[in-house]
Amino acid sequence: MSDLYTGSFEATWERSQKLEADLPQHPEKYRVLTGDRPTGRLHIGHLFGSLDNRRRLQALGVSTYIVIADYQVLTDRETFEAIAENTLQLVIDYLSVGIDPENSRTWIFPHSHVPELNQLLLPFLTLVTMAELDRNPTVKEEIQAAGLTRINAGMYTYPIHQAADILFCKGNVVPVGKDQLPHLEITRTVARRFNERYGRGQTVFPEPSPLLSPAPVILGLDGSQKMSKSRNNAIMLSASPEETASLIKKAKTDADRQITYDPVGRPEVSNLLLLASLASGESPQSLAQTIGDGGAGKLKAVVTEALNTYLAPIREKRKALEQDLAYVRSVLRKGIAGAREEAVKTLEEVRGVMNMNL
Ligand code: TRP
Repeated sequence: MSDLYTGSFEATWERSQKLEADLPQHPEKYRVLTGDRPTGRLHIGHLFGSLDNRRRLQALGVSTYIVIADYQVLTDRETFEAIAENTLQLVIDYLSVGIDPENSRTWIFPHSHVPELNQLLLPFLTLVTMAELDRNPTVKEEIQAAGLTRINAGMYTYPIHQAADILFCKGNVVPVGKDQLPHLEITRTVARRFNERYGRGQTVFPEPSPLLSPAPVILGLDGSQKMSKSRNNAIMLSASPEETASLIKKAKTDADRQITYDPVGRPEVSNLLLLASLASGESPQSLAQTIGDGGAGKLKAVVTEALNTYLAPIREKRKALEQDLAYVRSVLRKGIAGAREEAVKTLEEVRGVMNMNL
């Protein structure tokens, strides 16, 4: 078996750029697969990162499957009480930012409800070695970050489950952040090895391409590397305007009253300018110029105003959807039905090439 995890980032970036250029030209050639774990509500880091990207792909007319990876939640925690509630809240977040399953090109479903998808895991597990699972850098980091001492087998095998998430519908484009690249490399390897072993010259599964997000990285309000709910440095889409103001008031800045956009030298101030820019459409440089020597106080007022204005319609839609859970559930039912239709076809084909049809 060939070695995994050795691809260069530059090569991946180049491939991603080519794909980016072809997507608007031939949207019908592509099927996007993206996913999230239902561990809590989404925040503005997700909004300006993955959600904006999904909205953009949707507008190009590409069909999209969004998997809510509920089994994956159990890889690094034992709590499952909130899974259904988190799933509904995740769908509400999607819908409120404009992901639109009514277009019949977008399907939102939890993988636990698509048995035929899960069954692909069994043949896929035989296509990778224990050593390869053990070397996955993202899995290693997650084990460290969660401080796990007792690691369940689901933690090591979830990247293969993720291959099933992607390949069940023959997804060929996967928008990802850098941390997910090792997983995508496994998916590509599983597809290739499956085709080689069972395909008899036919391509059963495509080797999906990563689409690296053009969105900038959003730091936490405390200036740390990543905005995340668990680090308590995030603004949730569901936060009220007052909560938003108070979170921004507490955000880390520096002592220089002259506001400038300098991501390397002044990461915290620049991150706030970036947020205001993403929300207002004005460039961070011109926002900095307007704020001038107004200091952190003026900067924070500008960011708060921009974010609350941008988020107002999203929050309104969110509130309405929270009152209409019947609709939210119907979106999931439709997504599950659409996903199952694909999964049943794929599993049939897989059994066929594996000589398991009777
Ligand atoms: N592992 C992803 C995350 O933690 C979620 C996910 C599950 C996913 N299945 C996927 C992402 C398939 C892309 C494709 O965010």
